[in-house]
Amino acid sequence: YMNYRVPRTRKEIFETLVKGLQRLEYRGYDSAEKGEIDGNNNEDKERHIRLVKKRGKVKALDEELYKQDSMDLEVEFETHFGIAHTRWATHGAPSAVNSHPQRSDRGNEFVVIHNGIITNYKDLRKFLESKGYEFESETDTETIAKLIKYVFDNREIEDITFSTLVERVIQQLEGAFALVFKSIHYPGEAVATRRGSPLLIGVRSEYKLSTEQVPVLYMTCKSRSPAPGGNIESVNNIRKPRVQRLDSSTCLQAVGNKAVEFFFASDASAIIEHTNRVIFLEDDDIAAAAGGKLSIHRVKRSASDDPSRAIQTLQMELQQIMKGNFSAFMQKEIFEQPESVFNTMRGRVNFETSTVLLGGLKAHLKEIRRCRRLIVIGCGTSYHAAVATRQVLEELTELPVMVELASDFLDRNTPVFRDDVCFFISQSGETADTLLALRYCKDRGALTVGVTNTVGSSISRETDCGVHINAGPEVGVASTKAYTSQFISLVMFGLMMSEDRVSLQDRRREIIRGLQSLPELIKEVLSLDQKIHDLALELYTQRSLLVMGRGYNYATCLEGALKIKEITYMHSEGILAGELKHGPLALIDKQMPIIMVIMKDPCFAKCQNALQQITARQGRPIILCSKDDTESSKFAYKMIELPPTVDCLQGILSVIPLQLLSFHLAVLRGYDVDFPRNLAKSVTVE
Ligand code: F6R
Repeated sequence: YMNYRVPRTRKEIFETLVKGLQRLEYRGYDSAEKGEIDGNNNEDKERHIRLVKKRGKVKALDEELYKQDSMDLEVEFETHFGIAHTRWATHGAPSAVNSHPQRSDRGNEFVVIHNGIITNYKDLRKFLESKGYEFESETDTETIAKLIKYVFDNREIEDITFSTLVERVIQQLEGAFALVFKSIHYPGEAVATRRGSPLLIGVRSEYKLSTEQVPVLYMTCKSRSPAPGGNIESVNNIRKPRVQRLDSSTCLQAVGNKAVEFFFASDASAIIEHTNRVIFLEDDDIAAAAGGKLSIHRVKRSASDDPSRAIQTLQMELQQIMKGNFSAFMQKEIFEQPESVFNTMRGRVNFETSTVLLGGLKAHLKEIRRCRRLIVIGCGTSYHAAVATRQVLEELTELPVMVELASDFLDRNTPVFRDDVCFFISQSGETADTLLALRYCKDRGALTVGVTNTVGSSISRETDCGVHINAGPEVGVASTKAYTSQFISLVMFGLMMSEDRVSLQDRRREIIRGLQSLPELIKEVLSLDQKIHDLALELYTQRSLLVMGRGYNYATCLEGALKIKEITYMHSEGILAGELKHGPLALIDKQMPIIMVIMKDPCFAKCQNALQQITARQGRPIILCSKDDTESSKFAYKMIELPPTVDCLQGILSVIPLQLLSFHLAVLRGYDVDFPRNLAKSVTVE
C-alpha cells in the first residue's frame, strides 16, 4: 500500500495493510501470517525497514504490531509504502522465519513478498551460497531477496533503477510468482511484478488521473538469459535494458501531481473498500510506483504485445465480501444460492421465448458447433460441475464430451487437436493446474473457453472467449454457490448450442422451465436446514461417511463427499452406485453411515437395486430423495425429501443438503468452517 501526498498516521497505514490481509485470509493462510511495515517518510528521515512477523492468523499479527513499543503509532507520513503478506506454506513449515517478507540480509536492504513457487530456487540458492550469502529460512522466496541484492551489489552503473534490478532478477526465475519489492536504497518506491500468479493495482485519487490507459514502456533486451543452474553469471551479462524517460505521458498520476494512493494486491477483495479502479498486470509486467507516479515496463517479446493496461472499474461491493448475519462465509454463500443462480441466468435466459444467449460465446458459436469434441477441464469442485453436466451436454450438443481433472490431463499429455473446444472451469480463474492445461490446449490450437467467477482473472483473460458465472465473490474456502452457478452456466451453453435442433425443442423448453423455477425450489431446499442440522447431530462423531448415487447425481456424491472431507476432516467417499458390487459393498454394515441420492430419473430403478443390496447387509441408508417418491421411504433409516425438478437439473437441488450437512458437521466438530486446515481458496501453485 502506497500513499503519496495523503497524510496518514502509522496506525492508519497498519490498519490498511492488516484489513487487506484479513480480506485475503481466505485465499491461503495455513501458515505464519506476517506483515511488514517500514518507516520511510518522504524526507527519508528513517531509512530503514522494520519487519514484524507472527505465526498464526492475521489477528495475531495485528496484536503483535501494537506490541512493538518502538513504533510511534501517531507519527504521520505524507508518503509511505508498506507491504504485508499471508503465507500458505509450500517450501518450509509455517513459522516466523519462513514468513514473508524475506530479506536480502540482516540490514533489510531488500525485502520481498511472494505468492507462487520458484521451481529453480535450489540452483539459485546454491549459486548465492557459493557467493557467500547466508540463508536463514527454508523458503524459495528468500533466494529472490538475496538475488536482487547480488544484482545490486554487482551493478555496473551507480544509479541503476529499482525496476531494472527487478527485471534482471525475474529473468533468472522459473516458476510462478507475484512479487512486491521494497528497498532501503529506493525509499518511497515500490516495484511489483508477476508471472503466473495474479497481481493487480488499485488506484485511488480524488483528482483526475492523467490517463485511463497506462502505456507500457518496452525495454529492449537482447535475449532472455540462460536459466540459472546453467550460468547465473549471465545475470550481469544481459544487454542492459533501456528504459525510456518517464514523463507524465508514460505514467499514471493524479493531474497536477496531486494526492494519489496505490494498492498492490493479489485479489480485488483486499482493496475494494478503498477503490474499485484497478489495473490487472500481465505476466512479466514490472510496475514501479514512486513520487505519486505509476509506470509499467516490460521486455518486448512479440510485436503483438498490448501497448497499454487499462484502468478497469470493478462492480464488486464491499458488502458482498462481508459475512452479514451468518456465522461463516460458507453458510452465507449456501443461503445466497437462490439469488446467485438467478444472477447467473439474468439477461441470458429468455423464459418467454425459450432462448439462451451467452454474450461471451456468441462470436464463436459457429466454430464451436463445428468442433470434433468438447473437453471440459477443472479441479475439485469445478471438475465436479463438469461431471454433473456431462450427460446433458452430450444430449444437447450431440458431441462427445470429455471431462478432465486438469492435473491428470496434463500428466497424460492428452492429445488435443485444432478442432477441439476446451472449457476451463474455475471459480477463482487462477488455479495453476487449470491455467497450465489452458496454455497446453492453446498451444495445440484448440479454441479455449473460460467459465470463471472472477472478472480479470488469468483464465478469463487467456481464453479465447468465455462465460462469467456471476455468482458474486465466493470467500468460503469450500466452494458452494460457485458450483451451482457453474452447473447452470454449462447447462445454458448446451441450450444455446441446441437452439436450432428441431428434435430437441421439447426437451429444451422443459429444461428452461426447470431453470426458471430453480430459485424458488432452492429456497424450499434451504428450509430443510433444521432437519439437516438434526441429522448432523446424529452423525458428527462418526469417522466416515459414504455418499452414493449414479447418473445425473453421481457428481452430487463426489461434491458432497469433497465438502465433508475438506471442512469436517471426516473420511468421506463419493461412490458410483453402479460400482457398489465391485468393491464398496464390503464397507457396508450396521455402523457405516451411508447417504444415498435416489432421484426420479432414468437411474431410479437401478438405485433401488443398490438400496436393496445395502439394506440386505444391515446398512442403514440415509436417503436423499424426491418428495413424490413412495418407494425409497420403505427402506430408509432417515430421509431428506427434495422438491422434484427436471432430471438434469436435480443435481443443483440435491447438492444443497450435503453442503448444509458438511457445514453443520464441521461446526459441531468444533472446526473453523471458513478456514479448513491446510487448504487455500485459490491454488496458484502446481
Ligand atoms: C472445494 C474447492 C476446491 C476448488 C478447486 C478449484 O470446495 O473449493 O476443490 O474447487 O481448488 O478451484 P477453482 O474453481 O478456483 O479453479
